[in-house]
Amino acid sequence: MAKQRRAVVILAAGQGSRMKSSTPKVLHEVLGSPMIAHVLKATTALAPERIVVITGHGRAAVDDWVAQWAIENAALLGSCAVSCIEQVAPRGTGHAVQFALPTLAEVDEALILYGDVPLLRVQTLEALLAARKTGAISLLAGNLSDPSGYGRVLLDAEGRVARIVEHADATAAERDVQLVNAGMMAVDAAFLRGALGRLDDNNAQGELYLTDLLEIATQDGLPGAVHIASDTAELQGVNTRAQCAEATDTLRRRVIEAHMAAGVAIERPELTWIESDVAIGQDSIIRGGVELRGRTTLGAFVEVDRGCVLRDTVVGDRVHLKPYTVAEGALIGDATAVGPFAHLRLGTDLRAGVKVGNFVETKKALLHDGAKASHLSYLGDCEIGAGSNIGAGTITCNYDGVNKHRTVLGAGVFIGSDSQLVAPVTLGDGAYVGAGTTVVKDVPAGALAVARAPQRNIEGWVAHKKARQAAVLAARVDSK
Ligand code: UD1
Ligand code: MG
Repeated sequence: MAKQRRAVVILAAGQGSRMKSSTPKVLHEVLGSPMIAHVLKATTALAPERIVVITGHGRAAVDDWVAQWAIENAALLGSCAVSCIEQVAPRGTGHAVQFALPTLAEVDEALILYGDVPLLRVQTLEALLAARKTGAISLLAGNLSDPSGYGRVLLDAEGRVARIVEHADATAAERDVQLVNAGMMAVDAAFLRGALGRLDDNNAQGELYLTDLLEIATQDGLPGAVHIASDTAELQGVNTRAQCAEATDTLRRRVIEAHMAAGVAIERPELTWIESDVAIGQDSIIRGGVELRGRTTLGAFVEVDRGCVLRDTVVGDRVHLKPYTVAEGALIGDATAVGPFAHLRLGTDLRAGVKVGNFVETKKALLHDGAKASHLSYLGDCEIGAGSNIGAGTITCNYDGVNKHRTVLGAGVFIGSDSQLVAPVTLGDGAYVGAGTTVVKDVPAGALAVARAPQRNIEGWVAHKKARQAAVLAARVDSK
């Protein structure tokens, strides 16, 4: 069979009133991303020609989010076009798909999904598409012990779909059917273009039901096929915040199991948060309470200790992140050691073998190979040469109240403890700075900079002070 030109239509116009929120339902997060992001990501694996999101409630916010998602995922999308179409005055799922019609002229099939069903796996969507073969329509269904609320799938003698009856319209006998419509379907585009116009609102809810397509197909002698999902958790729609938390936990466990299967040690799976775009190299160890968020990637043989939180951070091989390291938008090179309690902010770039110790904060800081800042420092807007050593308590004074300025250190520079480097300032290769110095001028290569008041030692001062205090106390007692 020739490759199917495919459109994905994602229904996302519903209000989601049970979320009790001013945020549109599909933008509520499941494992750190809006639930619709999970649906969009799954569809990209199917190489569609276009993705159309039907929006309504909270349309502006959803449109903006989808447009931004398309920009950030341009590489994944290739030539696939992504657009949003407003469903004006929503009147049901069939009505929603009618708005996608103008975009379906040039495709062979449409895959219709819901924006609030975030756990669907790519394999399940592939099975749904495969179930249609050359037929008019295939449907995703599942067997639920409590099917109430769902549309029931009524099969004919050959196991094809005769029709779907919505819960509100079902007879008592039909309500006993446990095979429910998950809502997702693959439809031949030519059939869809004809059949959408034949829907009516002659039903209990006065809506245009997408599910009536199945009865129309049967009437046309083209009864639909059904793919029954083995894991009904995948079909779960999210309607409440409690379901959002449940979906998050299901997805979280799924992601963690995949990493373990791929050779990552996860010491406390139940206490670990790893978002779905995170990549981790083999033989890495993730300890309890760790959060790996966004597009974080870890190399091989990385040890991430308890309580580390990383977002959009790229970590090389053989790195040791000690407890409670926090990093966002950082690059952490091979064989580095960071933490405990380090804060690597946006634009931090640690090259190979760097050491950043406890209570060190970095921002837009490039530390070349083997540089060390072991304790209590702020390093912002700076470049630190290979093998340089930053003493405890060193601060780059990068901000003059209006502008940020850079501090540049050559290779092998030694900064004594408790020094301030007032930017803009440059220190040449091998320069030394004496402890407690405030550096306000450039330091040439190989020079020592030292700026501190000369020390005086006053002999006998302590005994003298004590004698004076004793005399004052004695005078007070006498005067009583
Ligand atoms: C629908 C199905 C039902 C199925 C159930 C599975 C129909 C008629 N019924 O029922 O058979 O068992 O889903 O969860 O299709 N939406 C729009 N525009 C609208 C109405 C809905 O975009 O006018 C979107 C919603 O945002 C949601 C999806 O379509 O993402 C499903 O809508 P919902 O109202 O939840 O349908 P159900 O009544 O649950
Ligand atoms: Mg629903």
